[in-house]
Amino acid sequence: MNEEAELRRKLVQAGGLLYARRLAHGSAGNLSVRLEDGTILVTPTNSSLGFLDADRISRLSPAGELISGDRPSKESFFHLAVYEERPAARAVVHLHSTYSVAVSCLCHAQTANVLPPLTAYHVMRVGKLPLLRYFRPGDRALADEVRKVSRNHRSMLLANHGPIVSGASLEEAVYAYEELEETAKLYFILGDRPTRPLSATEIADIDQAFPS
Ligand code: 13P
Repeated sequence: MNEEAELRRKLVQAGGLLYARRLAHGSAGNLSVRLEDGTILVTPTNSSLGFLDADRISRLSPAGELISGDRPSKESFFHLAVYEERPAARAVVHLHSTYSVAVSCLCHAQTANVLPPLTAYHVMRVGKLPLLRYFRPGDRALADEVRKVSRNHRSMLLANHGPIVSGASLEEAVYAYEELEETAKLYFILGDRPTRPLSATEIADIDQAFPS
């Protein structure tokens, strides 16, 4: 199977998995991958991630022009912004999963990192999670914000909306997204109980053992 056909198959599979795990619902969320030649495969707008058709997935030039397939996600522009800033990124996952979106609706005293480092896997897969201010879905003004934050972060959270997570492969981005959602869930389960997040020394040790 050639690269494009294989990645189309993987997008359908990942969409089905995320939908089955209830991380994606309705027609919310979008997925993309970058091919060797720099073109992007992105899920079509208003499609359910649980029922993607490999042949209808949109293919875009690096500048965002539609090469083939259905009309692309209205959020394609922020997927492109992540790829522009992160040369090693090969996949981007954006979903509206419940616990992460709940975190995005809270008032936060600071926006540099809105989830505590509760577990090693959160530190390894997600890292710091900055909060970006609210933009309407599809608002192109978001691209500049995403570009800026992408320079130093593989994960970010859009206020009152949901996370954007990138990875060196679709599997990596999906695993990171799942880890983020689980940490958001833990955060609410722990609630007001006295909690011990990982210390700076423990985080530095993880970063050294598992560099991102
Ligand atoms: P699209 O259907 O255009 O991909 O938009 C869904 C979404 O998640 C908006 O943020």
